[in-house]
Amino acid sequence: MGELEGKKHVQYIVSVEKKKDSFEALVIEHLRLNGAYWGLTTLDLLNEIEAVKPDEIVQWIMQCQDIGSGGFGGNVGHDPHLLYTLSAVQVLALLNRLDVLDIDKVSDFLRMIVQLYLLVHLSLYLDVAGLQNEDGSFSGDMWGEVDTRFSYIAICCLSLLGQLSKINVESTVNYIVSCKNLDGGFGSIPGGESHAGQIFCCVGTLAITGSLHHVDRDLLGWWLCERQCKDGGLNGRPEKLADVCYSWWVLSSLVMIDRVHWIDKEKLTRFILNCQDKENGGISDRPDNAVDVYHTYFGVAGLSLLEYPGIKSIDPAYALPVDVVNRIFFSK
Ligand code: FPP
Ligand code: ZN
Repeated sequence: MGELEGKKHVQYIVSVEKKKDSFEALVIEHLRLNGAYWGLTTLDLLNEIEAVKPDEIVQWIMQCQDIGSGGFGGNVGHDPHLLYTLSAVQVLALLNRLDVLDIDKVSDFLRMIVQLYLLVHLSLYLDVAGLQNEDGSFSGDMWGEVDTRFSYIAICCLSLLGQLSKINVESTVNYIVSCKNLDGGFGSIPGGESHAGQIFCCVGTLAITGSLHHVDRDLLGWWLCERQCKDGGLNGRPEKLADVCYSWWVLSSLVMIDRVHWIDKEKLTRFILNCQDKENGGISDRPDNAVDVYHTYFGVAGLSLLEYPGIKSIDPAYALPVDVVNRIFFSK
Protein backbone atom coordinates (compact mmCIF):
# COMPACT_ATOMS: atom_id res chain seq x y z
CA MET A 1 0.00 0.00 0.00
CA GLY A 2 2.93 2.36 0.66
CA GLU A 3 2.93 5.55 2.64
CA LEU A 4 0.93 8.74 2.34
CA GLU A 5 2.43 10.81 -0.50
CA GLY A 6 1.76 14.09 1.34
CA LYS A 7 4.21 16.26 -0.64
CA LYS A 8 2.80 15.03 -3.98
CA HIS A 9 -0.76 15.78 -2.84
CA VAL A 10 0.30 19.31 -1.93
CA GLN A 11 1.85 19.76 -5.41
CA TYR A 12 -1.31 18.38 -7.01
CA ILE A 13 -3.61 20.78 -5.10
CA VAL A 14 -1.40 23.78 -5.88
CA SER A 15 -1.20 22.82 -9.58
CA VAL A 16 -5.01 22.51 -9.86
CA GLU A 17 -5.35 25.93 -8.23
CA LYS A 18 -2.97 27.41 -10.84
CA LYS A 19 -4.51 25.69 -13.90
CA LYS A 20 -7.60 27.89 -14.12
CA ASP A 21 -8.03 27.19 -17.86
CA SER A 22 -7.70 23.41 -17.62
CA PHE A 23 -10.53 20.99 -18.38
CA GLU A 24 -10.89 20.12 -14.71
CA ALA A 25 -11.08 23.80 -13.77
CA LEU A 26 -13.76 24.28 -16.43
CA VAL A 27 -15.81 21.37 -15.14
CA ILE A 28 -15.75 22.62 -11.56
CA GLU A 29 -16.00 26.32 -12.40
CA HIS A 30 -19.34 26.70 -10.67
CA LEU A 31 -17.99 24.81 -7.62
CA ARG A 32 -14.81 26.84 -7.25
CA LEU A 33 -15.60 28.04 -3.73
CA ASN A 34 -16.25 24.43 -2.67
CA GLY A 35 -12.99 23.46 -4.43
CA ALA A 36 -11.12 26.16 -2.50
CA TYR A 37 -12.46 24.69 0.76
CA TRP A 38 -11.51 21.12 -0.20
CA GLY A 39 -8.03 22.13 -1.47
CA LEU A 40 -7.06 24.55 1.26
CA THR A 41 -8.27 22.30 4.09
CA THR A 42 -6.18 19.48 2.59
CA LEU A 43 -3.12 21.74 2.55
CA ASP A 44 -3.72 22.79 6.15
CA LEU A 45 -4.24 19.20 7.34
CA LEU A 46 -0.89 18.40 5.69
CA ASN A 47 0.70 21.41 7.47
CA GLU A 48 1.30 23.18 4.13
CA ILE A 49 -1.16 26.09 4.10
CA GLU A 50 1.81 28.42 3.41
CA ALA A 51 1.87 27.04 -0.15
CA VAL A 52 -0.86 29.58 -1.05
CA LYS A 53 -1.19 33.36 -0.82
CA PRO A 54 -4.04 34.12 1.64
CA ASP A 55 -4.62 37.75 0.56
CA GLU A 56 -5.41 36.78 -3.05
CA ILE A 57 -7.81 34.06 -1.87
CA VAL A 58 -9.62 36.36 0.56
CA GLN A 59 -9.99 38.99 -2.17
CA TRP A 60 -11.44 36.44 -4.61
CA ILE A 61 -13.83 35.02 -1.97
CA MET A 62 -15.22 38.47 -1.24
CA GLN A 63 -15.84 38.93 -4.98
CA CYS A 64 -18.05 35.81 -4.85
CA GLN A 65 -20.38 37.48 -2.34
CA ASP A 66 -23.76 38.62 -3.65
CA ILE A 67 -23.97 42.19 -2.41
CA GLY A 68 -27.77 42.22 -2.31
CA SER A 69 -28.39 39.09 -0.25
CA GLY A 70 -25.07 38.64 1.60
CA GLY A 71 -24.79 34.99 0.47
CA PHE A 72 -21.90 33.59 -1.60
CA GLY A 73 -21.95 32.04 -5.08
CA GLY A 74 -19.61 29.28 -6.31
CA ASN A 75 -17.62 31.83 -8.32
CA VAL A 76 -17.60 35.54 -9.15
CA GLY A 77 -21.02 36.59 -10.49
CA HIS A 78 -22.76 33.28 -9.63
CA ASP A 79 -26.05 33.01 -7.70
CA PRO A 80 -25.73 32.75 -3.92
CA HIS A 81 -26.39 29.41 -2.24
CA LEU A 82 -25.92 27.96 1.25
CA LEU A 83 -23.44 25.39 -0.15
CA TYR A 84 -20.97 28.11 -1.17
CA THR A 85 -21.71 30.37 1.79
CA LEU A 86 -20.48 27.64 4.16
CA SER A 87 -17.33 27.13 2.06
CA ALA A 88 -16.64 30.88 2.17
CA VAL A 89 -17.02 30.95 5.96
CA GLN A 90 -14.90 27.80 6.38
CA VAL A 91 -12.05 29.08 4.17
CA LEU A 92 -12.04 32.47 5.91
CA ALA A 93 -11.99 30.65 9.27
CA LEU A 94 -9.10 28.49 8.05
CA LEU A 95 -7.14 31.58 6.98
CA ASN A 96 -8.04 33.37 10.25
CA ARG A 97 -9.78 36.11 8.24
CA LEU A 98 -13.40 35.97 9.45
CA ASP A 99 -12.91 39.66 10.30
CA VAL A 100 -13.46 40.62 6.62
CA LEU A 101 -17.10 39.46 6.85
CA ASP A 102 -20.07 41.62 7.60
CA ILE A 103 -21.46 38.98 9.95
CA ASP A 104 -24.96 40.48 10.14
CA LYS A 105 -25.18 40.50 6.35
CA VAL A 106 -24.20 36.82 6.00
CA SER A 107 -26.48 35.66 8.79
CA ASP A 108 -29.32 37.75 7.34
CA PHE A 109 -28.88 35.72 4.13
CA LEU A 110 -29.40 32.56 6.13
CA ARG A 111 -32.48 34.07 7.76
CA MET A 112 -33.77 35.19 4.37
CA ILE A 113 -33.46 31.62 3.08
CA VAL A 114 -35.54 30.44 6.03
CA GLN A 115 -38.22 33.02 5.27
CA LEU A 116 -38.31 32.16 1.56
CA TYR A 117 -38.63 28.56 2.59
CA LEU A 118 -41.64 29.53 4.68
CA LEU A 119 -43.28 31.27 1.74
CA VAL A 120 -42.59 28.58 -0.82
CA HIS A 121 -43.08 25.37 1.12
CA LEU A 122 -44.78 25.91 4.38
CA SER A 123 -47.81 28.04 3.71
CA LEU A 124 -49.93 25.24 5.17
CA TYR A 125 -47.95 25.20 8.37
CA LEU A 126 -47.41 28.89 8.93
CA ASP A 127 -47.87 30.24 12.37
CA VAL A 128 -49.91 33.24 11.27
CA ALA A 129 -48.91 35.27 14.29
CA GLY A 130 -45.17 35.09 13.91
CA LEU A 131 -44.37 33.51 10.52
CA GLN A 132 -42.75 30.77 12.59
CA ASN A 133 -41.28 27.88 10.56
CA GLU A 134 -43.08 24.97 12.18
CA ASP A 135 -40.97 22.11 10.84
CA GLY A 136 -37.60 23.82 11.29
CA SER A 137 -36.15 22.75 7.95
CA PHE A 138 -34.00 24.74 5.54
CA SER A 139 -33.83 25.11 1.78
CA GLY A 140 -30.57 25.96 0.03
CA ASP A 141 -31.45 28.93 -2.17
CA MET A 142 -34.30 30.93 -3.57
CA TRP A 143 -35.52 27.90 -5.56
CA GLY A 144 -36.37 26.17 -2.32
CA GLU A 145 -34.96 22.60 -2.52
CA VAL A 146 -35.29 21.09 0.97
CA ASP A 147 -32.58 18.82 2.31
CA THR A 148 -30.99 18.09 5.72
CA ARG A 149 -27.71 19.18 4.10
CA PHE A 150 -29.00 22.73 4.34
CA SER A 151 -29.99 22.38 8.00
CA TYR A 152 -26.40 21.32 8.72
CA ILE A 153 -24.93 24.15 6.66
CA ALA A 154 -27.07 26.81 8.34
CA ILE A 155 -26.25 25.51 11.83
CA CYS A 156 -22.52 25.03 11.12
CA CYS A 157 -22.18 28.46 9.48
CA LEU A 158 -24.12 30.36 12.15
CA SER A 159 -22.27 28.54 14.93
CA LEU A 160 -18.87 29.49 13.43
CA LEU A 161 -20.10 33.08 13.18
CA GLY A 162 -21.48 33.07 16.74
CA GLN A 163 -25.00 33.76 15.41
CA LEU A 164 -27.04 30.68 16.33
CA SER A 165 -29.50 32.90 18.20
CA LYS A 166 -30.71 34.23 14.82
CA ILE A 167 -32.64 31.03 14.06
CA ASN A 168 -34.92 28.67 15.92
CA VAL A 169 -32.42 25.95 16.91
CA GLU A 170 -35.05 23.83 18.67
CA SER A 171 -37.25 23.50 15.58
CA THR A 172 -34.16 22.77 13.45
CA VAL A 173 -33.28 19.91 15.82
CA ASN A 174 -36.88 18.66 15.78
CA TYR A 175 -36.82 18.62 11.98
CA ILE A 176 -33.59 16.58 11.96
CA VAL A 177 -35.13 14.14 14.44
CA SER A 178 -38.15 13.80 12.10
CA CYS A 179 -35.71 12.57 9.40
CA LYS A 180 -34.50 9.68 11.61
CA ASN A 181 -35.27 6.18 10.29
CA LEU A 182 -36.01 2.85 11.99
CA ASP A 183 -32.51 1.63 11.04
CA GLY A 184 -31.02 4.45 13.19
CA GLY A 185 -29.86 6.44 10.12
CA PHE A 186 -31.12 9.70 8.61
CA GLY A 187 -32.29 10.78 5.16
CA SER A 188 -32.54 14.07 3.29
CA ILE A 189 -36.24 14.56 4.17
CA PRO A 190 -38.67 12.77 6.53
CA GLY A 191 -39.05 9.19 5.24
CA GLY A 192 -35.99 9.53 2.96
CA GLU A 193 -33.64 6.54 2.72
CA SER A 194 -30.69 6.48 5.15
CA HIS A 195 -27.55 7.69 3.39
CA ALA A 196 -24.13 8.23 4.99
CA GLY A 197 -23.79 11.78 3.58
CA GLN A 198 -27.10 12.82 5.11
CA ILE A 199 -26.20 11.02 8.34
CA PHE A 200 -23.08 13.21 8.61
CA CYS A 201 -25.27 16.30 8.15
CA CYS A 202 -27.86 15.20 10.72
CA VAL A 203 -25.40 13.93 13.33
CA GLY A 204 -23.24 17.04 12.75
CA THR A 205 -26.24 19.30 13.35
CA LEU A 206 -27.11 17.40 16.52
CA ALA A 207 -23.46 17.51 17.70
CA ILE A 208 -23.10 21.27 17.12
CA THR A 209 -26.39 21.99 18.92
CA GLY A 210 -25.61 19.64 21.85
CA SER A 211 -28.48 17.31 20.89
CA LEU A 212 -26.75 13.96 20.33
CA HIS A 213 -29.06 12.34 22.91
CA HIS A 214 -31.54 12.03 19.99
CA VAL A 215 -29.25 9.44 18.34
CA ASP A 216 -29.47 5.72 19.09
CA ARG A 217 -25.69 5.33 19.08
CA ASP A 218 -25.58 1.52 18.98
CA LEU A 219 -28.21 1.21 16.24
CA LEU A 220 -26.66 3.93 14.07
CA GLY A 221 -23.14 2.69 14.86
CA TRP A 222 -24.13 -0.75 13.61
CA TRP A 223 -25.59 0.64 10.34
CA LEU A 224 -22.45 2.76 9.82
CA CYS A 225 -19.90 0.03 10.52
CA GLU A 226 -21.74 -2.26 8.09
CA ARG A 227 -20.66 0.24 5.41
CA GLN A 228 -17.15 -1.32 5.46
CA CYS A 229 -16.73 -3.45 2.33
CA LYS A 230 -14.45 -6.47 1.77
CA ASP A 231 -11.81 -4.21 0.17
CA GLY A 232 -11.66 -2.20 3.44
CA GLY A 233 -13.28 0.94 1.98
CA LEU A 234 -16.61 2.39 3.11
CA ASN A 235 -19.76 2.81 1.02
CA GLY A 236 -22.62 5.27 1.53
CA ARG A 237 -25.55 2.81 1.41
CA PRO A 238 -26.05 -0.98 1.29
CA GLU A 239 -25.09 -2.65 -2.03
CA LYS A 240 -22.93 0.29 -3.22
CA LEU A 241 -19.22 0.18 -4.00
CA ALA A 242 -16.71 1.61 -1.52
CA ASP A 243 -15.69 5.20 -2.25
CA VAL A 244 -12.96 7.26 -0.55
CA CYS A 245 -15.31 10.18 0.20
CA TYR A 246 -17.35 7.92 2.49
CA SER A 247 -14.22 7.56 4.61
CA TRP A 248 -15.29 11.03 5.71
CA TRP A 249 -19.09 10.85 5.79
CA VAL A 250 -19.16 7.51 7.65
CA LEU A 251 -16.09 7.91 9.84
CA SER A 252 -16.89 11.45 11.06
CA SER A 253 -20.36 10.21 12.09
CA LEU A 254 -18.83 7.22 13.92
CA VAL A 255 -16.41 9.53 15.73
CA MET A 256 -19.25 11.88 16.77
CA ILE A 257 -21.22 8.99 18.30
CA ASP A 258 -18.10 7.41 19.78
CA ARG A 259 -18.25 4.14 17.78
CA VAL A 260 -15.23 4.53 15.47
CA HIS A 261 -13.56 1.46 17.04
CA TRP A 262 -16.31 -0.66 15.41
CA ILE A 263 -14.61 -0.57 12.01
CA ASP A 264 -11.29 -2.07 10.90
CA LYS A 265 -9.15 1.08 10.81
CA GLU A 266 -6.10 -0.61 9.29
CA LYS A 267 -8.06 -1.99 6.32
CA LEU A 268 -9.64 1.43 5.69
CA THR A 269 -6.24 3.16 5.88
CA ARG A 270 -4.93 0.69 3.30
CA PHE A 271 -7.92 1.31 1.00
CA ILE A 272 -7.39 5.10 1.08
CA LEU A 273 -3.64 4.81 0.49
CA ASN A 274 -4.29 2.48 -2.46
CA CYS A 275 -6.35 5.25 -4.11
CA GLN A 276 -3.36 7.62 -4.30
CA ASP A 277 -1.75 8.62 -7.58
CA LYS A 278 1.75 8.00 -6.33
CA GLU A 279 3.37 9.70 -9.30
CA ASN A 280 1.45 12.93 -9.75
CA GLY A 281 -0.37 13.25 -6.42
CA GLY A 282 -4.08 13.33 -5.65
CA ILE A 283 -6.52 10.66 -4.43
CA SER A 284 -9.37 9.06 -6.40
CA ASP A 285 -12.74 7.57 -5.33
CA ARG A 286 -11.42 4.00 -5.70
CA PRO A 287 -8.14 2.36 -6.80
CA ASP A 288 -6.90 3.19 -10.35
CA ASN A 289 -9.54 5.86 -11.08
CA ALA A 290 -8.70 9.48 -11.96
CA VAL A 291 -7.92 11.71 -8.98
CA ASP A 292 -9.80 14.91 -8.08
CA VAL A 293 -9.62 17.55 -5.34
CA TYR A 294 -12.86 16.38 -3.67
CA HIS A 295 -11.62 12.82 -3.07
CA THR A 296 -8.12 14.05 -2.22
CA TYR A 297 -9.62 16.13 0.58
CA PHE A 298 -11.91 13.44 1.91
CA GLY A 299 -9.12 10.84 1.73
CA VAL A 300 -6.76 13.04 3.76
CA ALA A 301 -9.60 14.04 6.14
CA GLY A 302 -10.44 10.35 6.61
CA LEU A 303 -6.80 9.57 7.38
CA SER A 304 -6.84 12.42 9.89
CA LEU A 305 -9.81 10.80 11.69
CA LEU A 306 -7.84 7.54 11.58
CA GLU A 307 -4.98 9.39 13.34
CA TYR A 308 -2.52 8.79 10.51
CA PRO A 309 0.88 10.23 11.56
CA GLY A 310 1.84 13.70 10.32
CA ILE A 311 -1.73 14.87 9.57
CA LYS A 312 -3.44 17.50 11.74
CA SER A 313 -6.57 16.45 13.65
CA ILE A 314 -9.86 17.41 12.03
CA ASP A 315 -13.05 18.25 13.91
CA PRO A 316 -15.73 15.72 12.82
CA ALA A 317 -18.66 18.15 13.16
CA TYR A 318 -17.25 21.40 11.72
CA ALA A 319 -15.07 19.66 9.10
CA LEU A 320 -12.20 22.02 9.88
CA PRO A 321 -8.84 21.38 11.56
CA VAL A 322 -9.26 21.17 15.35
CA ASP A 323 -6.81 24.04 15.95
CA VAL A 324 -8.94 26.31 13.70
CA VAL A 325 -12.13 25.38 15.60
CA ASN A 326 -10.37 25.93 18.94
CA ARG A 327 -9.12 29.34 17.80
CA ILE A 328 -12.67 30.38 16.93
CA PHE A 329 -14.35 29.18 20.11
CA PHE A 330 -11.69 29.42 22.79
CA SER A 331 -9.38 32.33 21.95
CA LYS A 332 -11.76 35.26 22.39
C1 FPP B 1 -22.76 12.41 -0.70
O1 FPP B 1 -23.03 13.02 -1.89
C2 FPP B 1 -22.70 13.42 0.38
C3 FPP B 1 -23.74 14.09 0.94
C4 FPP B 1 -25.12 13.89 0.54
C5 FPP B 1 -23.49 15.09 2.03
C6 FPP B 1 -23.16 16.47 1.52
C7 FPP B 1 -22.94 17.44 2.63
C8 FPP B 1 -22.74 18.75 2.47
C9 FPP B 1 -22.71 19.38 1.14
C10 FPP B 1 -22.56 19.62 3.70
C11 FPP B 1 -21.20 20.28 3.80
C12 FPP B 1 -20.12 19.27 3.94
C13 FPP B 1 -18.91 19.48 4.57
C14 FPP B 1 -17.88 18.39 4.63
C15 FPP B 1 -18.52 20.73 5.24
P1 FPP B 1 -22.98 12.29 -3.32
O2 FPP B 1 -23.74 13.16 -4.25
O3 FPP B 1 -21.56 11.99 -3.67
O4 FPP B 1 -23.79 10.95 -3.05
P2 FPP B 1 -23.75 9.60 -3.88
O5 FPP B 1 -22.47 8.90 -3.49
O6 FPP B 1 -24.99 8.87 -3.40
O7 FPP B 1 -23.76 9.98 -5.33
ZN1 ZN C 1 -17.08 9.84 -3.76
